[in-house]
Amino acid sequence: MHALGIDIGGTGIKAAPVDLETGKFLADRVKIATPQPSAPDGVAEVVGKLVHAFSWSGPIGVTFPGVVMNGVTRTAANLDKRWIGLDARSLLAKAAGQEIRLLNDADAAGIAEMTFGAGSGEPGTVLMVTLGTGIGSALFVNGILVPNTEFGHLEIRGKDAERRASEHAKTVHEMGWKQWAKNVNEYLEHVEALLSPQLIIIGGGISRQSDKFIPLFTGLNARVVPAAMHNDAGITGAAMAAHPGSPAPARAGAGANAIPGLGRTPGATGTAGTHGDQGLPGYPNPGLPE
Ligand code: BGC
Repeated sequence: MHALGIDIGGTGIKAAPVDLETGKFLADRVKIATPQPSAPDGVAEVVGKLVHAFSWSGPIGVTFPGVVMNGVTRTAANLDKRWIGLDARSLLAKAAGQEIRLLNDADAAGIAEMTFGAGSGEPGTVLMVTLGTGIGSALFVNGILVPNTEFGHLEIRGKDAERRASEHAKTVHEMGWKQWAKNVNEYLEHVEALLSPQLIIIGGGISRQSDKFIPLFTGLNARVVPAAMHNDAGITGAAMAAHPGSPAPARAGAGANAIPGLGRTPGATGTAGTHGDQGLPGYPNPGLPE
Protein backbone atom coordinates (compact mmCIF):
# COMPACT_ATOMS: atom_id res chain seq x y z
CA MET A 1 0.00 0.00 0.00
CA HIS A 2 1.24 3.37 -0.97
CA ALA A 3 0.42 6.95 -0.01
CA LEU A 4 1.86 10.34 -0.82
CA GLY A 5 3.32 12.22 2.15
CA ILE A 6 3.72 15.98 2.00
CA ASP A 7 5.56 17.82 4.77
CA ILE A 8 4.92 21.57 4.98
CA GLY A 9 7.71 23.39 6.79
CA GLY A 10 8.64 27.00 7.38
CA THR A 11 11.57 26.66 4.96
CA GLY A 12 10.65 23.92 2.50
CA ILE A 13 7.72 21.79 1.40
CA LYS A 14 8.74 18.18 0.72
CA ALA A 15 6.94 15.22 -0.73
CA ALA A 16 7.51 11.58 -1.58
CA PRO A 17 5.39 8.51 -2.23
CA VAL A 18 5.79 6.06 0.64
CA ASP A 19 5.52 2.30 0.91
CA LEU A 20 3.42 1.88 4.05
CA GLU A 21 4.72 -1.62 4.75
CA THR A 22 8.28 -0.44 5.15
CA GLY A 23 8.02 3.33 5.63
CA LYS A 24 10.47 3.77 2.75
CA PHE A 25 10.19 6.23 -0.09
CA LEU A 26 9.19 4.78 -3.46
CA ALA A 27 10.85 7.64 -5.33
CA ASP A 28 13.27 10.45 -4.53
CA ARG A 29 11.62 13.19 -2.54
CA VAL A 30 10.90 16.51 -4.18
CA LYS A 31 11.44 19.73 -2.25
CA ILE A 32 10.12 23.18 -3.13
CA ALA A 33 11.01 26.27 -1.08
CA THR A 34 8.16 27.56 1.07
CA PRO A 35 6.84 30.74 -0.59
CA GLN A 36 7.52 33.95 1.31
CA PRO A 37 5.23 35.21 2.65
CA SER A 38 3.95 31.74 3.46
CA ALA A 39 0.30 32.68 2.92
CA PRO A 40 -2.21 29.82 2.59
CA ASP A 41 -2.87 30.26 -1.14
CA GLY A 42 0.83 30.22 -2.08
CA VAL A 43 1.53 27.14 0.03
CA ALA A 44 -1.57 25.38 -1.33
CA GLU A 45 -0.30 26.04 -4.85
CA VAL A 46 2.99 24.30 -3.99
CA VAL A 47 1.07 21.35 -2.54
CA GLY A 48 -0.83 21.12 -5.83
CA LYS A 49 2.45 21.21 -7.76
CA LEU A 50 3.90 18.38 -5.66
CA VAL A 51 0.84 16.17 -6.21
CA HIS A 52 1.22 16.91 -9.91
CA ALA A 53 4.99 16.24 -9.87
CA PHE A 54 4.30 12.63 -8.87
CA SER A 55 1.17 12.41 -11.09
CA TRP A 56 -0.34 11.12 -7.87
CA SER A 57 -3.72 9.57 -7.46
CA GLY A 58 -4.20 7.74 -4.17
CA PRO A 59 -4.22 8.66 -0.49
CA ILE A 60 -2.44 11.89 0.49
CA GLY A 61 -1.35 12.96 3.96
CA VAL A 62 -0.09 16.46 4.67
CA THR A 63 1.71 17.83 7.71
CA PHE A 64 1.48 21.36 9.03
CA PRO A 65 3.91 23.12 11.41
CA GLY A 66 1.24 24.11 13.92
CA VAL A 67 -1.74 22.79 15.86
CA VAL A 68 -4.28 21.02 13.63
CA MET A 69 -7.73 20.16 14.91
CA ASN A 70 -10.28 18.57 12.60
CA GLY A 71 -8.57 20.04 9.58
CA VAL A 72 -8.44 23.55 11.02
CA THR A 73 -5.01 25.06 11.62
CA ARG A 74 -5.02 26.73 15.03
CA THR A 75 -1.50 28.13 15.32
CA ALA A 76 1.25 29.16 12.91
CA ALA A 77 4.37 30.15 14.83
CA ASN A 78 6.62 29.99 11.77
CA LEU A 79 4.16 30.52 8.95
CA ASP A 80 1.99 33.42 7.85
CA LYS A 81 -0.65 34.26 10.46
CA ARG A 82 -3.43 33.91 7.89
CA TRP A 83 -3.29 30.16 8.60
CA ILE A 84 -4.70 30.65 12.09
CA GLY A 85 -8.32 29.50 12.28
CA LEU A 86 -8.34 28.44 8.62
CA ASP A 87 -10.04 25.31 7.28
CA ALA A 88 -6.67 24.32 5.85
CA ARG A 89 -7.69 20.77 5.05
CA SER A 90 -10.36 22.00 2.63
CA LEU A 91 -7.99 24.52 1.05
CA LEU A 92 -5.25 21.92 0.54
CA ALA A 93 -7.72 19.29 -0.65
CA LYS A 94 -8.89 21.69 -3.33
CA ALA A 95 -5.30 22.31 -4.41
CA ALA A 96 -4.58 18.55 -4.41
CA GLY A 97 -7.77 17.80 -6.33
CA GLN A 98 -8.85 15.19 -3.78
CA GLU A 99 -9.35 14.55 -0.06
CA ILE A 100 -6.33 14.75 2.17
CA ARG A 101 -5.49 14.07 5.82
CA LEU A 102 -3.85 16.90 7.73
CA LEU A 103 -1.86 16.61 10.96
CA ASN A 104 0.89 18.33 12.92
CA ASP A 105 4.39 17.83 11.49
CA ALA A 106 6.06 16.59 14.68
CA ASP A 107 3.15 14.22 15.37
CA ALA A 108 3.66 12.76 11.90
CA ALA A 109 7.41 12.40 12.42
CA GLY A 110 6.77 10.75 15.78
CA ILE A 111 4.33 8.22 14.33
CA ALA A 112 6.88 7.25 11.70
CA GLU A 113 9.70 6.89 14.23
CA MET A 114 7.53 4.88 16.63
CA THR A 115 6.73 2.45 13.85
CA PHE A 116 9.78 2.16 11.66
CA GLY A 117 12.48 4.04 13.53
CA ALA A 118 14.08 4.84 16.85
CA GLY A 119 10.93 4.32 18.94
CA SER A 120 9.78 1.06 17.39
CA GLY A 121 8.49 -1.30 20.10
CA GLU A 122 9.15 1.20 22.89
CA PRO A 123 6.61 1.12 25.72
CA GLY A 124 6.08 3.82 28.34
CA THR A 125 6.46 7.54 27.76
CA VAL A 126 8.38 8.53 24.65
CA LEU A 127 8.94 12.08 23.51
CA MET A 128 9.99 13.00 20.00
CA VAL A 129 11.44 16.48 19.63
CA THR A 130 12.10 17.92 16.17
CA LEU A 131 14.72 20.63 15.93
CA GLY A 132 14.25 22.65 12.76
CA THR A 133 12.77 26.04 11.91
CA GLY A 134 10.90 25.66 15.20
CA ILE A 135 10.78 22.93 17.84
CA GLY A 136 8.06 20.34 17.40
CA SER A 137 7.02 17.69 19.90
CA ALA A 138 5.17 14.38 19.77
CA LEU A 139 4.31 12.57 22.97
CA PHE A 140 3.53 8.84 23.07
CA VAL A 141 2.22 6.88 26.00
CA ASN A 142 2.50 3.14 25.43
CA GLY A 143 2.61 3.80 21.73
CA ILE A 144 -0.41 6.07 21.59
CA LEU A 145 0.00 9.65 20.47
CA VAL A 146 -1.17 12.58 22.54
CA PRO A 147 -1.75 14.90 19.57
CA ASN A 148 -0.84 18.55 19.21
CA THR A 149 1.55 18.90 22.13
CA GLU A 150 3.47 22.16 21.76
CA PHE A 151 6.49 21.69 23.99
CA GLY A 152 8.63 23.79 21.68
CA HIS A 153 6.94 26.81 23.15
CA LEU A 154 7.82 26.12 26.77
CA GLU A 155 9.41 29.20 28.23
CA ILE A 156 13.07 28.93 29.19
CA ARG A 157 14.61 31.96 30.86
CA GLY A 158 11.72 34.11 29.70
CA LYS A 159 11.99 33.07 26.05
CA ASP A 160 10.14 30.64 23.84
CA ALA A 161 12.34 27.49 23.89
CA GLU A 162 12.51 27.33 20.11
CA ARG A 163 14.18 30.74 20.03
CA ARG A 164 17.21 29.21 21.77
CA ALA A 165 17.29 25.57 20.87
CA SER A 166 15.92 25.11 17.33
CA GLU A 167 18.26 24.54 14.40
CA HIS A 168 17.14 27.94 13.13
CA ALA A 169 18.27 29.57 16.39
CA LYS A 170 21.68 27.93 16.00
CA THR A 171 22.06 29.42 12.53
CA VAL A 172 20.64 32.87 13.27
CA HIS A 173 22.69 33.35 16.44
CA GLU A 174 25.73 31.69 14.89
CA MET A 175 26.09 29.29 17.80
CA GLY A 176 28.78 26.63 17.80
CA TRP A 177 27.88 23.03 18.64
CA LYS A 178 28.90 23.43 22.29
CA GLN A 179 26.77 26.50 22.96
CA TRP A 180 23.80 25.15 21.08
CA ALA A 181 24.05 21.72 22.73
CA LYS A 182 23.99 23.51 26.09
CA ASN A 183 20.76 25.26 25.13
CA VAL A 184 19.17 22.04 23.87
CA ASN A 185 20.35 20.24 27.02
CA GLU A 186 18.74 22.89 29.24
CA TYR A 187 15.55 22.60 27.25
CA LEU A 188 15.48 18.80 27.50
CA GLU A 189 16.12 18.94 31.24
CA HIS A 190 13.09 21.18 31.56
CA VAL A 191 10.95 18.84 29.47
CA GLU A 192 12.21 15.84 31.41
CA ALA A 193 11.27 17.47 34.70
CA LEU A 194 7.71 17.86 33.41
CA LEU A 195 7.16 14.57 31.57
CA SER A 196 9.76 11.99 32.66
CA PRO A 197 10.00 10.25 29.30
CA GLN A 198 12.15 7.14 29.22
CA LEU A 199 13.20 7.83 25.67
CA ILE A 200 13.72 11.12 23.84
CA ILE A 201 14.05 10.95 20.06
CA ILE A 202 15.72 13.93 18.43
CA GLY A 203 14.48 14.62 14.92
CA GLY A 204 14.85 17.28 12.27
CA GLY A 205 17.58 17.61 9.64
CA ILE A 206 20.20 18.41 12.26
CA SER A 207 19.74 14.94 13.78
CA ARG A 208 21.98 13.72 10.95
CA GLN A 209 24.80 15.38 12.87
CA SER A 210 23.73 14.00 16.24
CA ASP A 211 27.29 12.88 17.03
CA LYS A 212 28.20 16.56 17.31
CA PHE A 213 25.72 17.35 20.08
CA ILE A 214 24.00 14.35 21.70
CA PRO A 215 27.25 13.17 23.37
CA LEU A 216 27.55 16.63 24.96
CA PHE A 217 24.28 16.28 26.90
CA THR A 218 24.58 15.74 30.64
CA GLY A 219 22.21 15.25 33.56
CA LEU A 220 19.37 13.55 31.68
CA ASN A 221 17.82 10.31 32.86
CA ALA A 222 16.08 9.54 29.58
CA ARG A 223 17.90 7.78 26.79
CA VAL A 224 18.44 10.32 24.03
CA VAL A 225 18.75 9.00 20.48
CA PRO A 226 18.64 10.51 16.99
CA ALA A 227 15.67 9.85 14.74
CA ALA A 228 16.37 6.97 12.39
CA MET A 229 14.63 8.76 9.53
CA HIS A 230 15.95 12.23 10.35
CA ASN A 231 14.09 14.84 8.34
CA ASP A 232 12.22 12.28 6.24
CA ALA A 233 10.10 11.07 9.15
CA GLY A 234 7.48 13.79 8.59
CA ILE A 235 6.83 12.65 5.03
CA THR A 236 6.53 9.01 6.08
CA GLY A 237 4.22 9.90 8.98
CA ALA A 238 2.05 12.04 6.73
CA ALA A 239 1.66 9.15 4.31
CA MET A 240 0.84 6.78 7.19
CA ALA A 241 -1.89 9.07 8.46
CA ALA A 242 -3.38 9.19 4.97
CA HIS A 243 -4.27 5.56 4.73
CA PRO A 244 -7.07 4.44 7.01
CA GLY A 245 -7.01 0.84 5.87
CA SER A 246 -3.29 0.24 5.83
CA PRO A 247 -2.14 -3.14 7.16
CA ALA A 248 1.24 -1.67 8.09
CA PRO A 249 2.91 -3.09 11.20
CA ALA A 250 1.30 -2.23 14.54
CA ARG A 251 2.73 1.20 14.22
CA ALA A 252 2.88 3.33 17.28
CA GLY A 253 1.39 0.37 19.04
CA ALA A 254 4.11 -2.18 19.55
CA GLY A 255 4.84 -0.82 22.99
CA ALA A 256 1.27 -1.15 24.14
CA ASN A 257 1.20 -4.81 23.29
CA ALA A 258 4.40 -5.40 25.22
CA ILE A 259 2.84 -4.41 28.52
CA PRO A 260 0.40 -6.83 30.16
CA GLY A 261 -2.87 -5.09 30.88
CA LEU A 262 -2.14 -2.33 28.42
CA GLY A 263 -2.74 -4.33 25.32
CA ARG A 264 -5.13 -3.67 22.54
CA THR A 265 -8.36 -1.97 23.32
CA PRO A 266 -11.05 -4.69 23.46
CA GLY A 267 -13.00 -4.83 20.25
CA ALA A 268 -10.43 -2.84 18.32
CA THR A 269 -9.66 -5.11 15.46
CA GLY A 270 -7.91 -2.61 13.29
CA THR A 271 -9.96 -3.51 10.26
CA ALA A 272 -9.90 -1.17 7.34
CA GLY A 273 -11.92 1.93 7.89
CA THR A 274 -12.44 1.52 11.65
CA HIS A 275 -13.94 4.81 12.62
CA GLY A 276 -11.29 7.32 13.53
CA ASP A 277 -8.46 4.85 13.45
CA GLN A 278 -6.45 6.84 10.94
CA GLY A 279 -4.87 3.62 9.79
CA LEU A 280 -3.39 2.58 13.09
CA PRO A 281 -4.39 -1.08 13.45
CA GLY A 282 -5.54 -2.18 16.85
CA TYR A 283 -6.48 1.22 18.12
CA PRO A 284 -9.90 2.71 17.59
CA ASN A 285 -8.52 6.18 18.03
CA PRO A 286 -4.80 6.80 18.49
CA GLY A 287 -5.47 10.47 18.85
CA LEU A 288 -4.78 11.65 15.37
CA PRO A 289 -7.00 14.48 14.23
CA GLU A 290 -9.87 13.40 11.97
C1 BGC B 1 4.96 24.77 16.06
C2 BGC B 1 4.70 23.29 16.14
C3 BGC B 1 5.54 22.57 15.12
C4 BGC B 1 7.00 22.94 15.29
C5 BGC B 1 7.89 22.31 14.25
C6 BGC B 1 6.43 25.03 16.24
O1 BGC B 1 6.69 26.39 16.17
O2 BGC B 1 4.23 25.49 17.04
O3 BGC B 1 3.34 23.00 15.94
O4 BGC B 1 5.38 21.19 15.26
O5 BGC B 1 7.17 24.34 15.24
O6 BGC B 1 7.54 22.73 12.97
